[in-house]
Amino acid sequence: MLSFLIGYMGSGKSTLGRTLSKLTGIPFIDMDAVIEQRNGMSIAEIFAQAGEKEFRRQESELIDEIAAGGNAIVATGGGAPCFFDNMEKMNSLGGTIYLKTSPAKLVRRLENGISKRPLLKDRTTQELEEFISENLKIREPYYLKAKVIIDCDTLTDSRIVEHITAYITKSDKK
Ligand code: S3P
Repeated sequence: MLSFLIGYMGSGKSTLGRTLSKLTGIPFIDMDAVIEQRNGMSIAEIFAQAGEKEFRRQESELIDEIAAGGNAIVATGGGAPCFFDNMEKMNSLGGTIYLKTSPAKLVRRLENGISKRPLLKDRTTQELEEFISENLKIREPYYLKAKVIIDCDTLTDSRIVEHITAYITKSDKK
């Protein structure tokens, strides 16, 4: 089965995806990393040179390619569920898991990684918090369409891994 990890930037999709892949033996796909490799550029460079619209086109196209491949755990980019019919598509392809995380926790996680994220760069901590809170209001309706919602504020990392592993392996047997 395909399992898509979705959620805001900094919610831990890539780290968790790698851990889950090691535990289950299911291959891992990091969508941002695939797009960077194909373009021979970082996400920041793609945004600057080709524009966000082109990035979103490639992101959506990649979901179609992943659909045509085999079993995988997929770390999506934070915006992927919110463009085109990507969320509906991912829901029809397999499991969708929303890593629900509060703006306060996201800000703490993102503070050191904003330079590589074009939508966040050059913002102060306070601006970052305001932007994330506002942006989450727009994005959360999409994220909440996920089949499984994990409360990452209250669960420990190991409980999060346990929950998702159980979901993935149960769905795989169906
Ligand atoms: C984006 C999230 C990023 C990356 C791009 C845009 C977004 O991925 O796809 O910078 O719109 O939320 P991460 O969620 O892995 O940071």
